[in-house]
Amino acid sequence: MKQKLDKFFKPKSIAVIGASNNITKIGNAALKNILVSDYECKVYPINPHEKFIMGLKCYKKITKVPGEIDLALISVPAAIVPQVVKECVQKKVHGVIIISSGFSEVGNLEKEDEIKRLIKGSKTRILGPNTMGYKNASINLDASFAFGMPRKGNLALASQSGALGMGMIYLANNEFVGLSKIVGVGNKLDIDDDDLIDYFSTDPETKVIGLYVEGIKNGRAFMTSIKACHKPVLVVKAGRTEAGARATASHTGSMAGSDEIYGAAIKQAGGIRCRDVVELFDMARALSGQPPAQGNRIGIITNGGGLGILLADACVANGLRIPKLSQKTYKRIDKILPDIVSPNNPVDLIADAGFYRYEAATRALLEDPNIDGIIVASVHGGYARPREYTGAILKMVRERKLHEEYKKPILGFWVGGREFEDLVLDLKAAGVPIYPSSWRVARAMLALYLEGQRLKREKKI
Ligand code: COA
Repeated sequence: MKQKLDKFFKPKSIAVIGASNNITKIGNAALKNILVSDYECKVYPINPHEKFIMGLKCYKKITKVPGEIDLALISVPAAIVPQVVKECVQKKVHGVIIISSGFSEVGNLEKEDEIKRLIKGSKTRILGPNTMGYKNASINLDASFAFGMPRKGNLALASQSGALGMGMIYLANNEFVGLSKIVGVGNKLDIDDDDLIDYFSTDPETKVIGLYVEGIKNGRAFMTSIKACHKPVLVVKAGRTEAGARATASHTGSMAGSDEIYGAAIKQAGGIRCRDVVELFDMARALSGQPPAQGNRIGIITNGGGLGILLADACVANGLRIPKLSQKTYKRIDKILPDIVSPNNPVDLIADAGFYRYEAATRALLEDPNIDGIIVASVHGGYARPREYTGAILKMVRERKLHEEYKKPILGFWVGGREFEDLVLDLKAAGVPIYPSSWRVARAMLALYLEGQRLKREKKI
């Protein structure tokens, strides 16, 4: 029976093995990150050559520390990692993060096997080696050596690439996508994606799970965890092509495997495959704040005909449908449009559409039983007033009562320049899912539809 990861993610005591007074060392950065975290716990630097590090009493070995240790970060060269892991096992440490590189990613499989033997039969769980560690934004704990903390939110991320994981934090912050946790899984000697999916599935601070995966070691466990998970699981599986697979082998020592088989298996298990991390964030942004779509019938509202056509194409290419409007909805929208146009789906509000037309049309589609999700688009065609569009979409997305009553997602799509960008930034900060491309918004809507399907299978909607 594998040990659960609660103490690993919420430790009461942490040791940093290889902590250093030298500011150029990774062991210095790791200790500093824990200390500057707004998180209360006991912290112990371990280094045989120092008496004090950053004002804290330093211990020669972890076994010399009085009391229990929940988590240890290891930042010593690969050659001495087995010895310190052995001491962690003796000390009954719950979780160990091996930051050190020099293992299977460079063909050193023996060292990883040696460590596996050391933890066998013990309760010690290992993250890595070759990992940045993790950042638990939910409790403000930074258990990594990399600099930067994510905004708080409900997306949990696991990345097999530490550097990309860090890049994802900055991207998420920039995009106002909040994270609950981000974990660098490294070489997955012990803690693997399936363990993290299982943990995130029951983590109250996580609503959506995102994974960047290069190689899957235990395909069956991975798929079983996705299938059993009660939350949407977004998967970026890299190494799709031969060139990508070659790069994967030299990066984390993983075998990329057959892309088609992975794609089919992820889909069958109920996961959602994303092309890249930008798409993962697009989908996560929609899933974390909007209700799922109960079906694939999408209503489109636009102030530009071309925009509507692009959206319709992108939706249909992704398996969504653009049904005709019901008679009732037709009549309602007809009343708010100038005489020269008549409503259709996409609903073209024409170039001079302002707040009222947008709001009234969105409300009409929300109340149309033949529509499961709505995309509200605006192009800054020289005549349009972006603030009226963004004001209307903000109002509709935020009107909680509407969501509770109709349970339909609303997504935004815009095309324009600087003036629009500033307003869109405000929308993103307010949690409104809004996208700068017809393809991206259609893919985000697809994720909401797939989530609706998953919940129907679970009989939750
Ligand atoms: N227990 C505790 N500390 C020990 C020790 C032991 N048994 N043996 C040595 N140390 C101390 C060292 O004395 C040193 O402290 P000092 O600066 O006070 O001298 C500290 O541990 C680090 O050891 P050092 O030999 O200086 O290694 P380093 O800091 O140059 O490199 C790693 C260690 C782990 C950072 C490096 O080997 C490595 O793997 N780098 C890549 C990490 C990486 O990129 N990971 C993947 C991220 S995604």
